[in-house]
Amino acid sequence: VPAATQRLAVLRTVPDIRAAVAAPRAAGGRIGFVPTMGGLHAGHASLMCRARAECDFVVVSIFVNPAQFGPREDYTKYPRDLDADSALCKRECADVVFAPEVEAIYPPGDKTRVEVAGLTDGMCGAFRPGHFRGVTTVCARLFNIVLPDAAYFGEKDYQQLKVVERMVADLQMPLAIIPCPTVRDDDGLALSSRNAYLSPSDRQAALTLWRALQTAQAAVTRGARDAAAILKVVHGTFTAEPAARLQYAELRNPETLQSVERIDGPTLLALAAFVGEVRLIDNLVLQPDA
Ligand code: PAF
Repeated sequence: VPAATQRLAVLRTVPDIRAAVAAPRAAGGRIGFVPTMGGLHAGHASLMCRARAECDFVVVSIFVNPAQFGPREDYTKYPRDLDADSALCKRECADVVFAPEVEAIYPPGDKTRVEVAGLTDGMCGAFRPGHFRGVTTVCARLFNIVLPDAAYFGEKDYQQLKVVERMVADLQMPLAIIPCPTVRDDDGLALSSRNAYLSPSDRQAALTLWRALQTAQAAVTRGARDAAAILKVVHGTFTAEPAARLQYAELRNPETLQSVERIDGPTLLALAAFVGEVRLIDNLVLQPDA
């Protein structure tokens, strides 16, 4: 099969994507939207699959958003392979790929940013100043361009999911945010575009995140309820694997993201860790009744 037929048409401009979505919307179709930064993997495929099952027309955006990267982060080396990404979109039966240039999303002279307070404090927000402002700004712009009925987000980026949900509720944007479960490799490693940076030995070390989450759940299952004691178990797991450096481990209410001192219901355990230069995140909602 010629390579060209394995890829979806990639639209680059705002008028083009608006025109592509206009017809299915006018026909009463439900528009599903999967915003991504490319580097697509089975986690993104699961979002597309869900969108395909629930919507009549599925748009995937591929846009490495400069506004959500810090000055010392991996914006320039973030994986970019539009051919492979659009082939994956085609396999997952998306209808169209929107891959705008930076100027299409941030026209010269633009001044508007969107920021959610409170929920962006702590966790990744504490270590990536401005990151969530970049995420909410680009999501608001993309939602406004595509005008979807539903947008699909992975639970791996749990804080991002809650921040975007809050923005949509506060700004009364007329779309549903659909959370989708984290997809893991067989050994438990959460799929992430950044896994592509890991050497085989770093990939082994990266399993420490999943091991720490499971060890914490095991402690809770045995009856641990004190947050400090559970976090000690997490820190201990990282001490045993020096190639993985824990940046934070936090226990939070999974809905409000308020810090938790004692576990008395499902509780989010969120982690970030460096393996070499690669920053990875993962989380698990700990279940006291498991
Ligand atoms: O999760 C991501 O890939 C990005 O943060 C998103 C939601 C596409 C915004 O750039």
